[in-house]
Amino acid sequence: MGEVTYQDYTFVPYIRREEIAKQVHRLAQEIKRDYDQKNVLFLCVLNGAFIFAADLFRACDLPDAEISFVRFKSYEGMQSTGNVKEVMGLSEDITGRHVLIVEDIIDSGVTAVQLRKELEKRNPESVKMVSLLFKPEALTMGKAPEYVGFEIPRKFILGYGLDLDGLARNLPDIYVLKDD
Ligand code: IMP
Ligand code: MG
Repeated sequence: MGEVTYQDYTFVPYIRREEIAKQVHRLAQEIKRDYDQKNVLFLCVLNGAFIFAADLFRACDLPDAEISFVRFKSYEGMQSTGNVKEVMGLSEDITGRHVLIVEDIIDSGVTAVQLRKELEKRNPESVKMVSLLFKPEALTMGKAPEYVGFEIPRKFILGYGLDLDGLARNLPDIYVLKDD
């Protein structure tokens, strides 16, 4: 596991796949306990969360769980653009349902606030969020996710679903920008 380069930026190993798997398993245990006997709808926020959601959804082993997908985009390059656009909406009827939003990372919190607001309009029984990564220092609005895999400093990372302009999602480990 050495350095990787994208768009002339160098990234160094940050969180190894074994450590990710351990936290995914820990989160799955907590979620399984909290949603036992409940018909929960996992809502994966595309694109970044797709790998985490796939691993978490299977690890939870909840027989009545379902999964669906929504899509937003708020990042260009390494900066949050601040204006979130809905690209692909939710088709499921979530009235009276327990919804668990699955995010890759919470940075400014803008995406999370917008999504929670959209979902609350549709009268779900509950809305909670699980995020693999959380940058507490970067949060400008909303609250911390109910379930967090890793709290990390305000640094740009990629791999395991997270990208730089579409690249590096396929790296099995997470990398951080060198000398940041
Ligand atoms: P927020 O709306 O600012 O909280 O940004 C959330 C979205 O920005 C995440 O779902 C990611 O897609 C993206 N993002 C935030 N931080 C990073 C990062 O360090 N690397 C890659 N994408 C990130
Ligand atoms: Mg995302």
